[in-house]
Amino acid sequence: MRITISAIKADIGSIGGHVRPSNALLEAVNASIRTHKGSTLIDAHIGFTGDDVAILMTHTRPVSDPQIHKIAWDAFLQGTEVAKRQGLYGAGQDLLKDAFSGNVHGLGPGVAEFSFDERPNEPFLMFTADKTEPGAYNLPLYLAFADPMYNTGLILSPDVGQGFRFTILDTQFTDGDRTIQLDTPEELYDLAALLRDNGRFVVRSINARSNGEPAVACSTSRLRNIAGKYVGKDDPIMLVRTQKSFPATGEVLAPFGIGHYVAGFMRGSHTGPLMPVCAGTAMSYFDGPPAVSCLAFSIRDGQLTEPVDLFDHPYWDWVRQRVSRKACDMRAQGFSGPAMLPYADLEYGGIKHRMEGLETRFAVSK
Ligand code: F6R
Ligand code: MG
Ligand code: MG
Repeated sequence: MRITISAIKADIGSIGGHVRPSNALLEAVNASIRTHKGSTLIDAHIGFTGDDVAILMTHTRPVSDPQIHKIAWDAFLQGTEVAKRQGLYGAGQDLLKDAFSGNVHGLGPGVAEFSFDERPNEPFLMFTADKTEPGAYNLPLYLAFADPMYNTGLILSPDVGQGFRFTILDTQFTDGDRTIQLDTPEELYDLAALLRDNGRFVVRSINARSNGEPAVACSTSRLRNIAGKYVGKDDPIMLVRTQKSFPATGEVLAPFGIGHYVAGFMRGSHTGPLMPVCAGTAMSYFDGPPAVSCLAFSIRDGQLTEPVDLFDHPYWDWVRQRVSRKACDMRAQGFSGPAMLPYADLEYGGIKHRMEGLETRFAVSK
């Protein structure tokens, strides 16, 4: 059966700052989605990581389908109504346009989706991150799909060993979608040259070269490009199919043990380590640390099993301790150097006004 999995996320309001949505908000989103289950939608799951609500939907319509995107948009509007009623912070924050216009691309919510002919057993993962940006997935994807140090399937499995095709988006280009495709292993160094720049080049999708099948779909929206100013981070959502011609589930997870430093954290303007957290974790220390959660599903005829929370395991408790330490090490130096993002990436305008104000006070002597 050919099915599509659509994962759409938005921050539509949060208790106590940018912390987590309320139960009533989540219930409103859930109720709205439920009315479509068994008709347009085969199945759905609602969850959250930090202040971002993620709607996972399975159906037989294509990707970017107006009907499916409207279902998500309407659910976010319902949730926003509750957010306003409860006085939640940032109510409707990621719904940047007043009217729905075909699909949610360019309207604020992040979207990851792909269509494929369902395998007889079809495992997939949904990653949702908060207080960071789409480039946060660059390193884990590079390591899981292209580095035999993390994915020994690249040397053990004939299918996986044929490598992968990465599609990379240039998020700085705003006059359309500027993309490039690179094949591993042949173009590994070119891939690394792009993916080191998390703020600009981001993985949009990955396909297996053994059969052309989609393996990864990532949200790559840039809210700043939509709104023209800082309106929150583009906390990214990602779908990954696993096993057989794809990396094993554990190979996809392994690079998240690094807790690599990413952009985001407080005010979307700092550097912090990406902490793998349980689904439904609220944000806390310094509005972070940047967090990622991962739910595993199996699917048959579009029906989802219950999710398994893959970062809810003693191994990840140990990782979280180490990542907390990394967060403190960086925070100890406050505003200095790499603790904050480069000037062009700071997401609050205030510092620019401050710098402009100082400009005339500089004196030049020779
Ligand atoms: C929001 C975020 C937070 C806020 C911070 C200040 O996604 O990352 O760190 O930037 O809480 O929020 P405001 O400026 O809305 O008071
Ligand atoms: Mg927020
Ligand atoms: Mg968020």
